[in-house]
Amino acid sequence: MEKKDVLILAIESSCDETAAAVVRNGREVLSNVISSQIELHKLYGGVVPEIASRKHIEKINQVIEEALTVAKIGLDDLDAIAVTYGPGLVGALLVGVAEAKALSYAKGLPLVGVHHIEGHISANYIENKDLEPPFVCLVVSGGHTHLVRVQDYGVYEILGRTRDDAAGEAFDKVARAIGLGYPGGPKIDKLSREGNPEAIVFPKAKIADAPYDFSFSGLKSAVLNYLNGCRMKGEEVNRADVAASFQKAVCDVLVEHAMHAVRELKVDKFAIAGGVASNGTLRAAMEQACQKQGVKFYRPSPILCTDNAAMIGAAGYYEFQKGVRSDLSLNAVPNLKLGER
Ligand code: KG4
Ligand code: ZN
Repeated sequence: MEKKDVLILAIESSCDETAAAVVRNGREVLSNVISSQIELHKLYGGVVPEIASRKHIEKINQVIEEALTVAKIGLDDLDAIAVTYGPGLVGALLVGVAEAKALSYAKGLPLVGVHHIEGHISANYIENKDLEPPFVCLVVSGGHTHLVRVQDYGVYEILGRTRDDAAGEAFDKVARAIGLGYPGGPKIDKLSREGNPEAIVFPKAKIADAPYDFSFSGLKSAVLNYLNGCRMKGEEVNRADVAASFQKAVCDVLVEHAMHAVRELKVDKFAIAGGVASNGTLRAAMEQACQKQGVKFYRPSPILCTDNAAMIGAAGYYEFQKGVRSDLSLNAVPNLKLGER
């Protein structure tokens, strides 16, 4: 007998993207609709939580309808609903969770609460049909910098994490300091192409006895000190050089720690995920390092690196297959830990 396809509607609203997707069997994306609020938050130099929640409420029905239309299916064709329930901004998460619960109740569909970072990691399954655990994944986003050993679907061991700023946060703060605006990551990525990454040597923090942990606040301060120094001496700042040198410092640390983990754990597969994983320099540096190390390198397309719902559909599928079900008491958990339910 042929195995029945599993169609999941996934919803993501943890930060500033209202997103819905239809995913078949965890790896085939039938639709992936993302309504970004970036233009709105830009005016304030960062995400304003209150505005994010309100916009999610305005957009969520429209985004879900579009996801179903593009996938050419109706709610009655679905097997389950997956939704991000943490971590993230509580008011933003609540919009997706309430919507998912309402649809689940109205249509009698199983509900699966998904961890946002698990979603980011699972984005790798979508375009890499051959990728299966175990592997090591570096998750670098605006809120998280985690080096994770993916032991099985939904089974994670956090090897290391940032002690202070997340990698994306560092990108955003440095971008603001050199006048690039929000969100800084893509802007630094672009400006760096005109700069010299060797122009300024910024420090790379290492944490004693914690080879997989990261720290980016010292690097951020070093950039701010450099900018202040230039100002005081009346020297003109070459913003492209600052961007390129900062980006190199971040990428070097990420690559070093990741390859250290790959060697120590003797894995043969390594993946990156999260918004910062769309960074051109990081992707190239990781690819090169993996080649040198003899491990297979996986990365999602840039559109699946930044927040989206297709990745939640991929993660939700594997949780669904394992029998994980949420009930109508599902709540938003802003500081949800990876691997906890
Ligand atoms: O994964 P994501 O969309 O949201 C969170 O879960 O945080 O990541 C957003 C972060 C922002 O800090 C943004 O500046 C950064 O990812 N980012 C980038 C790039 N694109 C997005 N950082 C570096 N280079 C990029 N191309
Ligand atoms: Zn994210």
